[in-house]
Amino acid sequence: MTDSHNAADSLATTFAERLIAWQAEHGRHDLPWQNTRDAYRIWLSEIMLQQTQVATVIPYYARFLERFPDVAALAVAPQDDVMALWSGLGYYSRARNLHRCAQVVVAEHGGHFPSDPETLATLPGIGRSTAAAIAAFAYDAHAAILDGNVKRVLARVFGIEGFPGTPKIEREMWALAESLLPERDLPAYTQGMMDLGATLCGRGKPRCGECPFDSDCAAHATGRERTLPTSKPKKVQPQRYVDVLVIHAGERVLFERRPDSGIWGGLWSLPELTPPADAAETDDASLRERLIAHAVGLRAEGDAGARMAGEQTTPSLVPLQGLTHVFTHFKLHLRPWLVTFPTDRADDGNRGNGGRYAWLSTDGVAAAGLPSPIRKIADALSLATQDDGQLRLPA
Ligand code: ADE
Repeated sequence: MTDSHNAADSLATTFAERLIAWQAEHGRHDLPWQNTRDAYRIWLSEIMLQQTQVATVIPYYARFLERFPDVAALAVAPQDDVMALWSGLGYYSRARNLHRCAQVVVAEHGGHFPSDPETLATLPGIGRSTAAAIAAFAYDAHAAILDGNVKRVLARVFGIEGFPGTPKIEREMWALAESLLPERDLPAYTQGMMDLGATLCGRGKPRCGECPFDSDCAAHATGRERTLPTSKPKKVQPQRYVDVLVIHAGERVLFERRPDSGIWGGLWSLPELTPPADAAETDDASLRERLIAHAVGLRAEGDAGARMAGEQTTPSLVPLQGLTHVFTHFKLHLRPWLVTFPTDRADDGNRGNGGRYAWLSTDGVAAAGLPSPIRKIADALSLATQDDGQLRLPA
């Protein structure tokens, strides 16, 4: 597992104490979720910090706590309010799980987060590493974290080869992480692991000269700082294409709530259509025909008035600036279209088809939880809204 057993053994016995001493002097001490033992605040920060940088999280964390100061407030909130405050942070299953978790904590744990990591890890959205972080920070639990940063530190310091996402390497790393835990000072040790991985032992240029393990680090000793941890075997990233409809009536735009599962689950989005997989549709006319047919159907769904009047109108269709959104596992290319019907008949705030559709005004759009690229499309359009409330195309 390690390059040299003897060197690794002595390193292992001093690792925690050196890390804690380094953290006290050089680590982070003033992040908004530090200097509290409130498990709710710690839990919220750990969920937000999964896959998201500290600087991005800070303003979201503050807004979220202002609106939901404790777990009881979050548990009773409407899902739309939770999603709206999460909007822009990405990985929206985190927000849905967060909401469910708050409800379980209130309903099954008397409004208190459990203190042992095994029970924490049974709650929605809390994996083994997050459970350990919450338990260590809030309750001094003797539990090891193993997120991406910690994997990088361990792979380098202990010279572990192999992609850490594979079950075999991950098992080795969990065992190592647990063997390194100190008897006491678990919060400082846990924070030290995070701080070292986020600062000196970063992915780009590690600052080995400042590292407390400089002299013993296996990667540094053998010039493998850049090749450890071993990268994930490369796969070609899939590309997806989607047409997005901006169906409007005056300044109101028809939005569709995404199903709870899948990307952007629970968020308000613009209606979309996936081009046929067989790529048969090469000519502009058949593309337009398909988009118009869909828009006419949707307008009737979103507007009971139009459906009842049996209105037959053909909208105009104008392409807007396209954009690409990069997800972890694929790239999504969005092709927005402005759809304008000859007559305006959006009911005020009408939510057709069981709340799945809504005609949102500019204010409604501002308040709703939208996925980032949809927010960009909406923002570009509101810039083009004129004094008379009509949408105009950006020049
Ligand atoms: N990343 C995950 N948890 C963190 C924490 N508590 N502080 C800083 N970065 C983190």
